[in-house]
Amino acid sequence: MANPVNERARLLSNDPVGPRLYLMRLETPIIAKTTRPGQFVHLQIPAADAHILRRPFCVYARDAEAGTIDVLYQVVGEGTRLLAKATPAVVDATGGMSVLGPLGNSWAAVDEAQSGSGLHVLLVGGGVGAAPLYLLAEDLIDAGCAVDVVLGAQTEDALVTRERFAALLGREPACATDDGSYGRPGFCTTLSQEALDAGCSVDGAPFDRVCVCGPDPLMKIVAAQAHEAHVPCEVSTERRMACGIGACLSCVVETTDGLKRSCADGPIFDAEKVVW
Ligand SMILES: Cc1cc2nc3c(=O)[nH]c(=O)nc-3n(C[C@H](O)[C@H](O)[C@H](O)COP(=O)(O)OP(=O)(O)OC[C@H]3O[C@@H](n4cnc5c(N)ncnc54)[C@H](O)[C@@H]3O)c2cc1C
Ligand code: FES
Repeated sequence: MANPVNERARLLSNDPVGPRLYLMRLETPIIAKTTRPGQFVHLQIPAADAHILRRPFCVYARDAEAGTIDVLYQVVGEGTRLLAKATPAVVDATGGMSVLGPLGNSWAAVDEAQSGSGLHVLLVGGGVGAAPLYLLAEDLIDAGCAVDVVLGAQTEDALVTRERFAALLGREPACATDDGSYGRPGFCTTLSQEALDAGCSVDGAPFDRVCVCGPDPLMKIVAAQAHEAHVPCEVSTERRMACGIGACLSCVVETTDGLKRSCADGPIFDAEKVVW
C-alpha cells in the first residue's frame, strides 16, 4: 500500500446529484495514481471552524492520467453541509483543499483477482455505500472476473451510481428502492439473497466472494447470507474518525481478534471476524 500524502487539491467541481447527495472532483495527482479500491481520503473541510476535524470519504472513481479523484457524499451533518457549499473559486482562494490519503486497506478480492483466479464476485452497495465498490468493480473486471452488482437506495433519484455501474458492466445492476420507485420494492437484501441462490448472472457459477458496503444492518444481513451460502464476505466499515491514521482509537471495530482500528486496520474486514 502506498504511503499517504497530504495534497493541496484544487476543487474542480462539486455538484448536487440527488437528494442530499453531491459529487465532488478533486485534482490530487499523487492520490489519483496510488489509491487502491476501498481506500479513503481524509478531507479538511474548506471554510470550517478550526474545531471541525477532517472527514473521511472513500474514493469513488479516479482518473490517474488526469490526476483527479471523485468523491460521492451525502450531507448528514455540519461538516458535509459546509462541504456542499464549497466552490472551486473559494477553495482556489485559500490555496486548495488539504486531502490526506490514500488511507486504509483495500479489498482482498483485488489481490486474489490479480493472481489470475477468475473470481465470480457479488458486490452489494446500500445508499452511498455503493461508492467504494466502483473502483473495485473496475479492477475486478480488468482482472477478468465476472461481477454482479446489487444496489439499494431509498428512492430512484438516490440511485446515483446506477448508470455508472451499468456502463461499466454493460448491463443494468440489480436495483431495489425502499419506496418501489425503481427496481424491486423493498430492501436490496432480497436481491443479494436471490443472487446467491441463482449464482453469477454471467455464467450461473456460484459466487467466490461477496463485497458489501452500506449501513451496518445491511452489511450484517448480507454477511449472514454469505455465511449461509459458504461464500467469503468482506465488509467496508464506516466508523466516526478523528485522526484517520491509527493514533487516537476513536474508530474501533469489535472483531473476534479483538478491537481493531477501522482507519488503519480497515476499513475493510473479513465479515466472519466482525462482531455485529
Ligand atoms: C472510511 C470511510 C469512508 C466513508 N466514505 C463515505 C463516502 O464515500 N460518502 C459519504 O457520504 N460518506 C462517507 N463516509 C461517512 C462520512 O465520513 C460521514 O458522513 C461524515 O464524516 C459526516 O460528517 P458531518 O460533519 O457531516 O456529520 P456529523 O455532524 O459529524 O454527524 C452527523 C451524523 O452522521 C453520522 N456520522 C458521522 N460520521 C460518520 C461516519 N464516519 N460513518 C457513519 N456515520 C457517521 C453521525 O453519527 C451523525 O448521526 C465514510 C466514512 C468512513 C469512515
Ligand atoms: S481515527 Fe484515530 S485511530 Fe482511527
